[in-house]
Amino acid sequence: MTTERLDILSGDYQNSIKRAADILKSDGIVAVPTETVYGLAASAFSDAAILKVFEAKGRPQDNPLIVHISDMDMLKGVADDIPDIAFVCAKKFWPGPFTMVLKKSGAVADSVSPGLETVAVRMPLEKSIRDIIDCAGLPLAAPSANISGCPSPTTYTHVLNDLDGKIDAVVLGNDCKIGVESTVVSLCTDKPRLLRPGAVTLEQLKAVLPDIEVDKAILSEPENGKKVASPGMKYKHYAPKTDTFLVEGNSEKYAEFVNGRENAVAVCFAEDKPFLKVKTLVYGSANDQSALAKNVFSALRQVDQLKATAVYIHAPEKTGVGLAVYNRLIRAAAFKVISL
Ligand code: TXA
Ligand code: MG
Repeated sequence: MTTERLDILSGDYQNSIKRAADILKSDGIVAVPTETVYGLAASAFSDAAILKVFEAKGRPQDNPLIVHISDMDMLKGVADDIPDIAFVCAKKFWPGPFTMVLKKSGAVADSVSPGLETVAVRMPLEKSIRDIIDCAGLPLAAPSANISGCPSPTTYTHVLNDLDGKIDAVVLGNDCKIGVESTVVSLCTDKPRLLRPGAVTLEQLKAVLPDIEVDKAILSEPENGKKVASPGMKYKHYAPKTDTFLVEGNSEKYAEFVNGRENAVAVCFAEDKPFLKVKTLVYGSANDQSALAKNVFSALRQVDQLKATAVYIHAPEKTGVGLAVYNRLIRAAAFKVISL
């Protein structure tokens, strides 16, 4: 299959949006930018289209997808019995990097969340995907546009590296401003539950949902055979092929540890770099969590090119958006954490 390039930066914006919408209306699949990561979109009403998404990504069929909407009317078409608190959250966090798990409406294709009575819904901030949703008149199911298990794509080049020839089209847009996927909160549990941390932080959520609980799977390895609230949490994810470790400790201890390893790569903070004698990939300043979020997946994508024996990633603080970065990194490291 030839993957069509729809250029919205230097090409004709309106034509590209319309073409993407037409492909989606006829059950094709299109990679689209969002403010978090690039998504691989399909009509949320079409099992046939969604099947193509799972195939292109090589995604386990039991891992449900997020449905993207462009206005509040669309929300009522994809979710039932919406609690009042969902509207409060929507007012505060939409459009933006925030996803709510709600009761699924019968209109949504079964394969969006196979075997579940719930659906995850998000209204993105990025204008181009909202224009495509409007133009198609369809809510779009869209997981991240990467091969399952690989780091999420934050540029269209990442998307093409993974999926060129496997999808109908890719919208060539800006690099993703946030860089980690949306915050996922379930409103279908006894108490609201944070299933995946993102750029809407736990601190911000507590202002609206004071009784929110944090799912254990966010920072710890799921126990064997145990049911996981967010199925995406149970998979090894975002991982380079190089053996990956997450390292906790101050700059001095980190440098001493990594310098003692042979043929290592350090995915590190700008502040660490002067003290390191190994190959480095800087993912931002320790004091700028937004930069760490924006760059983390690009750094992980570069690791394998350095042909090292192992990669040691300097762990960020677990506060603010740092919690989201830590959550992705502990999965990239398959829960191998070294505390110095
Ligand atoms: O920022 C994002 O959310 C990006 C962009 C493209 O919007 N999308 C994204 O999708 O990250 P994906 O498929 O890579 O991650 C979806 C996450 C998974 O962890 C999945 O298990 C969880 O959301 N999820 C989806 N539907 C769910 C449901 N009904 N109940 C619980 N968790 C759900
Ligand atoms: Mg993903």
